[in-house]
Amino acid sequence: MPAHPTPETQAITDLARLRETVAAWRAAGDRVVLVPTMGALHRGHLALIAHARTLGERVVASIFVNPTQFGPSEDFARYPRDAASDLALLAQAGTDAAWMPEAAAMYPPGFSSRIEVGGLTEGLCGAFRPGHFSGVATVVTKLLNQVRPDAALFGEKDFQQLQVIRRAVADLDLDVAIHGMPTIREADGLALSSRNRYLAPAERATAPKLHAVLSDIAAQARDGGETAPAIARGIAALEAAGFAVQYLAVCDAATLAPLARVDGPARVLAAAYLGKTRLIDNVAV
Ligand code: PAF
Repeated sequence: MPAHPTPETQAITDLARLRETVAAWRAAGDRVVLVPTMGALHRGHLALIAHARTLGERVVASIFVNPTQFGPSEDFARYPRDAASDLALLAQAGTDAAWMPEAAAMYPPGFSSRIEVGGLTEGLCGAFRPGHFSGVATVVTKLLNQVRPDAALFGEKDFQQLQVIRRAVADLDLDVAIHGMPTIREADGLALSSRNRYLAPAERATAPKLHAVLSDIAAQARDGGETAPAIARGIAALEAAGFAVQYLAVCDAATLAPLARVDGPARVLAAAYLGKTRLIDNVAV
């Protein structure tokens, strides 16, 4: 793996230069696709880049560990950062530019605006991470305004985030197509996540249980029975395996409202701690 980006991936840290670069592509008739990330890239991100390349001639990946979406006791300070490795992976994946703004430029003194998305953000992760989705919606809106892409791609692993972004984009009339992409998993079912690297070996061995339990609940919900007993059994199974469950719910796939029975598109979603690592996952019913 090269230690530095190949010449094809420009690392851009200055907004004026980003805008000039994108304007030149547009003038040449190229469509621009954005893949927002917080770095610590893995195969899930690379799958987004690969799909982005099918949607436009130019692909921009943003790398920005956004401080405003982390709570005071969360992992902002220790969130993995490895720009050299990220840039090498982006180059290999055929990314045209890496947009890497400085925090001081994203949030200069006096910055005081937030995007608040109601409803969708109240339950699930929103109930345990106050301010998180406002931080996400604000930074994603800024990234979309900075890059002005034709399309932007997000993983379904962060399913609530994806729905919140879709809502904000629709509500604010942002002229961009949002694409959700299926979760990429390890062979044993564990959803790829930059935070998986926090897991100790014994935790890593236990972690795929989360996906197994969600898949079981999805199968039971698909049969049309009440969701509550399946959820209770799922929580018990996870706790027996060593997880501390924050939530486990069967929800309408669009509104994220909890469902007592499934009669349309639905999703089983959960967040649980394994030791100090918070894992989230979801599967379609
Ligand atoms: O999913 C992520 O990596 C982040 O929440 C995002 C969308 C890049 C916003 O910071």
